[in-house]
Amino acid sequence: MRRLITALFFLLMLTGCEKKTAAPTKTAAAGDPNRGRAIYLSNCAACHNPDPSKDGSVGPAIKGASRELIEARLMRASYPPGYKPKRNTAAMPAQPYLESSIPDLIAFLR
Ligand code: HEC
Repeated sequence: MRRLITALFFLLMLTGCEKKTAAPTKTAAAGDPNRGRAIYLSNCAACHNPDPSKDGSVGPAIKGASRELIEARLMRASYPPGYKPKRNTAAMPAQPYLESSIPDLIAFLR
């Protein structure tokens, strides 16, 4: 009997974990371009052009930027290994609090 209870307990834990990990993966896979636009306009467009395919007052055009590039810029103000930056300045601050919005930004910049 005790074994059965233990087994049931583990089963519950497993299914519980499965649900928790399933939700974020789903949203991470499918970023929302409309949410991305709003985030871009309020957090990036002061330096980058409101139209990401054009150069901005401070930041370069970033349309089509890869996930690796956006992640490196926002989380660490760095670049992916081997990436040749469009500008040699180091004016852009990291914005790690935007981590959960990266899929939306990618969807908008695509
Ligand atoms: C304070 C101004 C500023 C803000 C705000 C800013 N950036 Fe930048 N960004 C820059 C500058 C300037 C560069 C060029 C490198 C540098 O000076 O750091 C750059 C470079 C980049 C690059 C790399 C371009 C390349 O190919 O070399 C990406 C991608 C990028 N920014 C994305 C973003 C995103 C996404 C946001 C908003 C979440 C953002 N930036 C907010 C100023 C800014």
